Amino acid sequence: MTAPTGRVVLVTGAARGIGAATVRRLVAQGDRVVAVDELAVAAAHDQVVPVVADVRDRAALAAAVETALDRWGRLDAAVAAAAVVAGGVPLWETPEADLDLLWDVDVKGVWNTAAVTVPAMLAGPDPAGGRFVAIASAAGHHGLHHLAAYNAAKHAVVGLVKGLAADLVGTGATACAVSPGSTRTPMLQATAALYDLDDVESFAGNQLLRRILEPDEVAATVAFCCSRDAAVLNGSVVHADGGFAP
Ligand SMILES: NC(=O)c1ccc[n+]([C@@H]2O[C@H](COP(=O)([O-])OP(=O)(O)OC[C@H]3O[C@@H](n4cnc5c(N)ncnc54)[C@H](O)[C@@H]3O)[C@@H](O)[C@H]2O)c1
Repeated sequence: MTAPTGRVVLVTGAARGIGAATVRRLVAQGDRVVAVDELAVAAAHDQVVPVVADVRDRAALAAAVETALDRWGRLDAAVAAAAVVAGGVPLWETPEADLDLLWDVDVKGVWNTAAVTVPAMLAGPDPAGGRFVAIASAAGHHGLHHLAAYNAAKHAVVGLVKGLAADLVGTGATACAVSPGSTRTPMLQATAALYDLDDVESFAGNQLLRRILEPDEVAATVAFCCSRDAAVLNGSVVHADGGFAP
């Protein structure tokens, strides 16, 4: 059995996919978790507290932080994994509503998560152990076909993390991004549908591993980034993508 770390982590996008796998990894390494999603989260462990919240609603996220503080008296790390994907047409045919949605959820959702969690980390018993981890994407480093708004949003997430790391100077707390490659989740299925593909398998060709990644593989990296041992990953991007080479 894993010894408890004493650390408390807030995870958004925790109902499924990479976020849900991250919750399982964190619990396995002995962390306690506030699991946030707009969908109901199945909390299958007494070290997990589920909270229903939309990451566009900063007050709801602040309440999730209060839940951590009330229950466990501290917050040590946060993972901003909640996001949506939209696209399927060239930039000039992309509805402005798609860009607005991706900005609001994928960028401001991460911003809101940082804005409410970082002060709690810095006020906690171990500010130098504070870790903010945003899930970016290979789309934050490449221009992926017919995903211009998603590319723009994920590039913005990388910029947000670099700015946050600079603002944390001297505190010991850190910020980093994890950029997954194609990972077997409902979002990858949704992306396949945008390209009129029947399944996700052809995305494997974009990765030198030549297979789709499993959520638990990406979550292993994310869980490490949440740990105290990850202090050197500051303003960094961890490419958890199996060698993305589109
Ligand atoms: N799956 C991939 O291939 C892949 C690749 C690169 C990056 N990513 C990124 O990884 C992260 C996780 O993606 P995933 O593949 O697990 O997706 P997913 O769709 O399986 O899970 C996303 C979760 O976020 C939640 N969510 C969406 N909007 C929300 C909102 N407004 N408020 C609260 N919760 C909300 C959803 O309910 C869902 O549980 C995302 O940031 C995504 O952009 C995924």
